[in-house]
Amino acid sequence: MNGSNLPPASEKAVYVNRMFAQIAHSYDLTNRLITAGQDIAWRRKVTELCQLPVAGRFLDVGTGTGDIAFEALRLHPDAEVIGCDFTYEMMAVGRKKNERALWRDPPAGAGGVEFVQGDGMRLPFADGHFDAVASGFLLRNVTDIDLCLAELRRVTKQDGRIVCLETSPPPQSALTPLLRLYLFKVIPLLGRLVAFAGGAPNRSPDSDPYQYLPASTAAFLPPQEMGRRMAQAGFRHVSYLPRMFGTVAIYVGIV
Ligand SMILES: C[S@@+](CC[C@H](N)C(=O)[O-])C[C@H]1O[C@@H](n2cnc3c(N)ncnc32)[C@H](O)[C@@H]1O
Repeated sequence: MNGSNLPPASEKAVYVNRMFAQIAHSYDLTNRLITAGQDIAWRRKVTELCQLPVAGRFLDVGTGTGDIAFEALRLHPDAEVIGCDFTYEMMAVGRKKNERALWRDPPAGAGGVEFVQGDGMRLPFADGHFDAVASGFLLRNVTDIDLCLAELRRVTKQDGRIVCLETSPPPQSALTPLLRLYLFKVIPLLGRLVAFAGGAPNRSPDSDPYQYLPASTAAFLPPQEMGRRMAQAGFRHVSYLPRMFGTVAIYVGIV
C-alpha cells in the first residue's frame, strides 16, 4: 500500500481479490447501511436500463454476491442470467442466496443465477453472446479500465446495451465537505462496525478495505471522463445518470 491507501497497479488485482474475499460475509449489509438502502434502487435502475429482450441473455461482471444478477432475474424471470467474478468467496455468498431463491414458491427464475468465476479483463465468454452486460462497482477495482470496457463490449451483441453503476469522486459544491466527511470517516467506521459485529474484524492493518473504498472512489474518473472512455471503447449514445449528490453514477452505452 502507498500513502494514498491504494495498492500499486502491479499488486492491485491480488489486493482487490483478497480484500473482497475477506469482507464477503459482511458485504451486503455494509452496502445497505452505507447507501441507506439506496443501492437496491440503483441496481433496479441498472437492470431496467439494460432493456433485456424476451428470453434474453444477461451478464453481470464483477457480480460479487450477485445482487444485480438477482435483480435482473426478478425483472426478467425468463432470462438466462450469469454473474461473473474473480472472487470465489463473494460468489459463494451469492450461491447461497441463489439456493434460497430457487426454493421460493414460485421460484425466482427457472434456473436461478449461474455464477462463473472469471476475470473482467479476460471474460470466459464468446463474442456477442449477451443481449446486455452490466456491472456494479467493478470498474474502479480493475487494473485496466480500458481493457475491461473492451471486454464488456466484445461479449455484448451488436445494438446490445452495457450499463455500469459506479462511484464518482465527490463533485465540487457546497456539500463537498460533508460528502468527504461521509466518504472518509463515516463509511470506514460503518464498514468496520459491521465486520466486527459479524465476527470478522480486519486482521491486516496494511490492507484495510474500509480505507480502500473511499481512496479508490476519490481517485476514480469523474463522470465526464468515464463517459469519454466508454465512447473511446466504441460504445454509442453514452450517457449517465448521477445519483446520491453526484457520488454515484449509472452509465449506459450501446454497442
Ligand atoms: C464492490 S464489489 C461489487 C459487487 C456487486 N457488483 C455489487 O453491485 O454489489 C466489486 C466486485 O468486483 C470484483 N472484481 C474486481 N476486479 C475484478 C476483475 N478483474 N474481474 C472480475 N471481478 C472483479 C470483486 O471480486 C468484487 O466482487
